[in-house]
Amino acid sequence: MKRRRFLESALAGLSGLIVACRGGGDAGDVGGPPASGNGLADGQPLRPLDILRNQSAAPGQFSASLSAAQASEMLNAGPTTPMWLYNGSRPGPLIELTEGQHVAIRIDNGLPQDTTVHWHGLPVPPSQDGNPMDPVPAGASRVYEFDLPAGSAGTYWYHPHPHLNTAEQVARGLAGPLIVRAGDDPLAHIPEVTLFVTGVRLDANAEISADNAIDWTVGRQNELLLVNGDRRPIHTVRPGATQRWRILNATASRHFRLALEGHELTLVGTDGGLLAAPIGGLAEILVAPAQRIEIVVSVNPAPNERYRLQALQYETDYLGLGTYADVDLLTLATNAEASAVPMVIPSALRPIADLGVASASQRIELSEVTGLCTRSGATVTFLINGRIFDPDRVDLVTTVGRVELWKIVNNTAMAHPFHIHGTQFQLVSRQVGTVLTPASYLAWIDTILIPSQHTATIKVRQMLAGKRMFHCHILEHEDNCMMALLDVLPA
Ligand code: C2O
Ligand code: CU
Ligand code: CU
Repeated sequence: MKRRRFLESALAGLSGLIVACRGGGDAGDVGGPPASGNGLADGQPLRPLDILRNQSAAPGQFSASLSAAQASEMLNAGPTTPMWLYNGSRPGPLIELTEGQHVAIRIDNGLPQDTTVHWHGLPVPPSQDGNPMDPVPAGASRVYEFDLPAGSAGTYWYHPHPHLNTAEQVARGLAGPLIVRAGDDPLAHIPEVTLFVTGVRLDANAEISADNAIDWTVGRQNELLLVNGDRRPIHTVRPGATQRWRILNATASRHFRLALEGHELTLVGTDGGLLAAPIGGLAEILVAPAQRIEIVVSVNPAPNERYRLQALQYETDYLGLGTYADVDLLTLATNAEASAVPMVIPSALRPIADLGVASASQRIELSEVTGLCTRSGATVTFLINGRIFDPDRVDLVTTVGRVELWKIVNNTAMAHPFHIHGTQFQLVSRQVGTVLTPASYLAWIDTILIPSQHTATIKVRQMLAGKRMFHCHILEHEDNCMMALLDVLPA
């Protein structure tokens, strides 16, 4: 196949590295340097997340501050690891908000470089969304302010989005979960757990290792996966328990085929909140970088059992550079108590209306070339509509309220998780060759995985004027030019 040969020749210069590194790292990956940090605490009880406290007593108001600064963490028995953290928390504190709230969050930049805070997936005004064009310089502060509209309940996250340095800042520890709650949540009676999955890769000195040429080409490799900051934590519950899990993929480039041993999964929500109805009986669910899901787990009734939550093997490209073996994320353990009575999951969750008839369409092509934007030895640059990112250039124009069909064609040799800022969109169909598959259910998403040689058609509408980013959410691709600007004009 022509595509395959392109990537092969483009990556030929890296092949020595790849062979040398195979088999390293007990994260089970192939390719990339071996992960050290095997002494990372393993199998501890699942840690609850730190919570960002609301400092306002006024009704309908959420006020708080985040500081981004260096902190030393004891990740393993060896030397401490210098990390960059929000409020010293690893991961960043959980921000719990409610629909209808007015939110004001101050960021104090204690890092040695520019940063921003991006509210991934939230419908906040472009000026408040932490775009790379609006940096907060080292030592400076700013306040982000926005209102949460009705219907925005869902599972989101926040992370830095500075020009060229997003991958580095996230790799050093800057990212945290954000939940928006509705007043009338049909699952409010089900106990809830948030699982924020991040990656960490240490060098021999227990420091966060910098991205290498392979990372810059296919996304950061060989990270150990952490859930709420720890490796393979143990989550102990009563047998027969019913729980709602929010799972967030905050890794730079890992795709999870999530499966829970001995259990079928019930999907109840995606990036932008609940589905119209639960989808039960699932053996596995694919969660691409930056995506989130909500599932309901009905734990087996047997006491004193253990089940692994796993990310199963996934291949992102033809060469196997971005191929990931099975990895255990967490152990679900049942205690010795008598089995709980299973809870009923309502058969209707909330209405999701189709965005309606589109009045414009856009074609977005993902392509690859050699020789452009070759940061740190990347041999291939991935492009959007044949161009590299330029913060001073507008790539697409739309108007507030206009429903558009975006046909996103992936002509590259690897999968890309495609993300648009500021709104939730709907998948319409996927196409491989001449085979077109319409979406089987409606869901609100802000990131869609487009495998190699696939086409996805989505329906999207922006409700706030200003400049929005759209990009691949493999963070090395985002920093390495696979990003573009959408200008939303007032209607
Ligand atoms: Cu998580 Cu530009 O986004
Ligand atoms: Cu985003
Ligand atoms: Cu990509």
